[in-house]
Amino acid sequence: MPQPGSTEERSLAHWAEQGRAGMEAFYALAAEDYRQMVAARDWAADLRAHARDGRVRVLDVACGSGKFPAELQRQGLAARVGDVRVEIDLLDPSAFSLAEARSVLEAPFTVRAEHEVRIQDLPADVGDVDVAWATHALYAVPPQEIGVGIARMVAAQRPGGFGAIVHARSDSHYLRFAEAYRATFSPDAVPFTTAEQVRHALTGAGVVPEVTTIRYDVGHPDRSVIEGFLQRCVFDDSVPLARMEIEGAVAEYLTPQLGTDGYRFTQLVDVITWEVPA
Ligand SMILES: C[S@@+](CC[C@H](N)C(=O)[O-])C[C@H]1O[C@@H](n2cnc3c(N)ncnc32)[C@H](O)[C@@H]1O
Repeated sequence: MPQPGSTEERSLAHWAEQGRAGMEAFYALAAEDYRQMVAARDWAADLRAHARDGRVRVLDVACGSGKFPAELQRQGLAARVGDVRVEIDLLDPSAFSLAEARSVLEAPFTVRAEHEVRIQDLPADVGDVDVAWATHALYAVPPQEIGVGIARMVAAQRPGGFGAIVHARSDSHYLRFAEAYRATFSPDAVPFTTAEQVRHALTGAGVVPEVTTIRYDVGHPDRSVIEGFLQRCVFDDSVPLARMEIEGAVAEYLTPQLGTDGYRFTQLVDVITWEVPA
């Protein structure tokens, strides 16, 4: 169970029907995360290379609203995997997220199973998966629990399986803003997990991560969209943008990001992959 008042609990409160408007404001900018990560590697080749008997079984950890598979679909995955069937297990502690992800999946994906659990609680009987991924998914897992969660994700993979975690680094907008926000408005909040901590946890789980870092900017001219994006970044709708712009470390972070066409934020994101030893 998430700790009361923790980042993980606030995340779950937002990944719910009452958080839909915030989710949509967030993806006005965050849709770029998915365009960039899909372009970052040949995901169809990864799926084809790890298929067995004409099908590849995927575990989508913290599936959220399914933006990653939706972007793969939009960029033509079905034609690129050919005859391979892609069977997906969705995992997320939010029933809302599971339903959203299920509703966007199309060919080549078919939903094989749903697991309404946290990564830390992934049951040992979920196993033998060919491909496991978690895309912009693990920020709210407490840093002291990411090792347990990732060990369970790796344990669900078959020998020779492929894994990928796409996660922002500590010098990226997501982590810099979350830290500034914590210092200014929420000093007791649990920090977000960083890509550096994810990599360390993967090594602890016995696999050798390979890392490619991608860099891009996101922005929007409309202040109300920026406000919704920033609030969703920290799962807290209580502080308006006008207040963020004048208080403490958040104001210091935001001021240099404001240009003539509005705010722009730099994302530095690690695409971390591994192969489980055969
Ligand atoms: C930003 S979304 C992930 C985006 C997703 N990968 C996609 O393709 O759209 C983050 C998800 O993490 C889930 N989450 C929060 N805490 C979690 C935990 N401890 N274990 C697994 N998922 C968690 C939330 O419910 C939410 O659905």
